Amino acid sequence: MNGDYLQVVDADALDRRICELGASISEDYAGRNPVLVGVLKGCVPFLPDLIRCIEEPHEVDFLLLTRFGSKGRVAVSMDTAISLEGRHVLLVEDIVDTGLTLSALRRNLEVRRPASLNTVALLDKVPRRIVDVPLEYRGFEIGDEFLLGYGLDWDGRYRNLPGLWAVMDMERLHDLHETLPDVVFPGSDGVDAPQ
Ligand code: IMP
Repeated sequence: MNGDYLQVVDADALDRRICELGASISEDYAGRNPVLVGVLKGCVPFLPDLIRCIEEPHEVDFLLLTRFGSKGRVAVSMDTAISLEGRHVLLVEDIVDTGLTLSALRRNLEVRRPASLNTVALLDKVPRRIVDVPLEYRGFEIGDEFLLGYGLDWDGRYRNLPGLWAVMDMERLHDLHETLPDVVFPGSDGVDAPQ
């Protein structure tokens, strides 16, 4: 750890918990051929890791949301290729924070009359919730710290960090974010790229 970032979940703990989620999903969805709909871009790498732990047949699709305004309004800017009508849909989210995004997305998808609509989120920021929205599967319950890594970004960056890292001082993030890779990948300076 350094004083600016703290690793809150390491890669091994992520692997273990994601496989537990996959086992629960396999059991609950046996024989239902669900569609797992990854909400881009935060669902990467969670979704690929999750489906490796789901033994039951299922399909995968994606959608991309655009957020606008401060009240959680969202538009689907890239939609699923698979029709969700009559299907068992499992949304795959990185994190549920205020719950506004998930709530808006659920309203959008319910209109399409899926047979069922549930959500798996890697992270549940419980203290920040302002709308009551169903969340059937969650990896970890967390506090209100800002996290980076494993799909979570700041300004589009740092989704690649192994494990989840808490930023200790958000006000300083803009100035210090470029030190983050040195903390996360110590000793990587000066290593030659593969030929
Ligand atoms: P909500 O609508 O407030 O629930 O926000 C959900 C979205 O906020 C997530 O899909 C993330 O894009 C973003 N978000 C919330 N908390 C964090 C965080 O700690 N790190 C990175 N992104 C976050």
